[in-house]
Amino acid sequence: MEKGKYSIAVFRGDGIGPEVIRQAILVLNAVSRRAGIVLDFRDGLIGGAAYEETGDPLPDESMALAKDSDAILLGSVGGPRWEGLNHHLRPERALLDLRKNLGLYANLRPVIVLEDLLGASPLKQHIARNVDILIVRELTGGIYFGQPRGIRTENGMRIGLNTLVYSEAEISRIGRIAFSLASKRRKHLCSVDKANVLESSRLWRETMIQINRDYPDVKLEHQYVDNCAMQLIRDPSQFDVIVTDNMFGDILSDEASVITGSIGMLPSASLGDRTALYEPIHGSAPDIAGKDLANPIAAILSAAMMLRYSFHRFDEAAWIESAVREVIKNGMRTADVLQGRRQAVGTEAMGEAIAKKILN
Ligand code: IPM
Ligand code: MG
Repeated sequence: MEKGKYSIAVFRGDGIGPEVIRQAILVLNAVSRRAGIVLDFRDGLIGGAAYEETGDPLPDESMALAKDSDAILLGSVGGPRWEGLNHHLRPERALLDLRKNLGLYANLRPVIVLEDLLGASPLKQHIARNVDILIVRELTGGIYFGQPRGIRTENGMRIGLNTLVYSEAEISRIGRIAFSLASKRRKHLCSVDKANVLESSRLWRETMIQINRDYPDVKLEHQYVDNCAMQLIRDPSQFDVIVTDNMFGDILSDEASVITGSIGMLPSASLGDRTALYEPIHGSAPDIAGKDLANPIAAILSAAMMLRYSFHRFDEAAWIESAVREVIKNGMRTADVLQGRRQAVGTEAMGEAIAKKILN
């Protein structure tokens, strides 16, 4: 990576992906102008869009582009049009392969409730206030990738099969990331598993306890995933950092996002040993695609995470985050977080307002 010059692979994907990514790029361009850094955006195809063009949801050129980049910005993949396709041709498969091939095992999903959006949360204000959780989701293992898998026929009966498997090494590397992040925050780590039923979870729990020895200042707690799902609604501010496996993290992060008012607010970073991937946690929302209705903030905050985690541009990341807060404070709302009788703004107007704040 050349100093002050960064190459970013851009995968806009399907549904609302292209329109939210357009706004994230608008905001990144504002940052590049103000900071005097060069951002070199290179477009690639992924998901349904890539399937339509090439017959492959993750073409080799896209994989090469991703590998070659300093960071990757991605919109979303999938849609009803491709639901009937074979497993290996589905848009979701492309995203999973991208994560796996790049070794992006650590998925960071911050869940932050903004004071000005408290009214958009379905929870009572005193419960949602000041929530600031970091979900650390293991992203390249577990039941998403375990072998054997498939649908086959045994004794004349079809069975669907998936395997939940974790090695100590896989648990340990995600555990270390989570402890290290917790030690820089409020020093409270909640490891979420199902150790009362699953062996993979027992190994998960034992490994977390072992790593805790290297991070004695972090208080480690364990919760079963069913209890955690309840605690997130009952008393979300008990949490600082949550570390959990691939599937539990997928489910709990959608649940937690609702506390902030909308899944359209949640960004993510997927980190490994080399390049990293930044994407909103939401899906392609085909029902509102192309209508200028989507909330671009999750994509824009993902761009902020890119500046912080991949480029170590901490001030620039903070510019974006405070621009988002200010625009919300001034009353701008996309339809998903609308409260009362306010008028909603569109995807573009929201992106432009945030970009403009960065330049003043
Ligand atoms: C997410 C999504 C993906 C996942 C899908 C699209 C494969 O739900 O990033 O949370 O399950 O990981
Ligand atoms: Mg998900």
